[in-house]
Amino acid sequence: MRRRLAAGNWKMNMTPTQGAAFIKEIAPLVAGAEAEVLFCVPAIDIPAAVEAAKGTNIEIGAENFYYEAKGAYTGEISLDMIKDTGVEYVLMGHSERRQIFGECDEMINKKLLAALAAQMKPILCCGESLEIREAGDTLTWIEGQIRSAFTGVTADEVKKTVIAYEPIWAIGTGKTATTGQAQEVCGMIRELVAKLYDAGTAEAVRILYGGSVNPENAAELFAQPDIDGGLVGGASLKLTFEKIVKA
Ligand code: PGA
Repeated sequence: MRRRLAAGNWKMNMTPTQGAAFIKEIAPLVAGAEAEVLFCVPAIDIPAAVEAAKGTNIEIGAENFYYEAKGAYTGEISLDMIKDTGVEYVLMGHSERRQIFGECDEMINKKLLAALAAQMKPILCCGESLEIREAGDTLTWIEGQIRSAFTGVTADEVKKTVIAYEPIWAIGTGKTATTGQAQEVCGMIRELVAKLYDAGTAEAVRILYGGSVNPENAAELFAQPDIDGGLVGGASLKLTFEKIVKA
């Protein structure tokens, strides 16, 4: 059985003080939840968030890192630095990193390989633009992103990876994919994992949907057979995230 995951992605929205206060406030609301509860936060927020989450069922993840182990990379943060704070989950391949910061498929593959080598828990994001969807190329596009990201990744490592399908046109727009659209792509991703690896790996890998998930639409999305939870931006900044966790 795949354990459900409700993952928040704060993006560039909370200071360390605000983040810690928010975690303390939401912790009693999500205590004892069936789903795993995670907030991916900006690097500078990590120590305060980890401290605030101590003794709760809330896990903290990192929104970003660089794949090299150490050296002259001004402004970057390594996996060792993140691990030292006790954090295990790391995001990669988010469309904002791809589009605004120019991260390409090759870099995302390097990030995934580095995170797995460091025994971290990677969350690999993929998703198509509106242009690609309207051209009818969604499935081909997503297949390309997944194949590239999984280059050199073993079946055991895929099982430890969470995949998040996030259509770019649904991120931060209030325009959610229909449950049919979300299930279609998540189902295709699982089939692709079966084709590239084996049925057991496909059965084990967790696949999330992301893109304007909110307390109203979460239950229907998460009821789809191939959707194992959500990666949630805007709605993870509010206490009503509790409702998404419970969905
Ligand atoms: P959103 O963001 O929930 O605000 O649409 C999702 C994401 O980018 O992970």
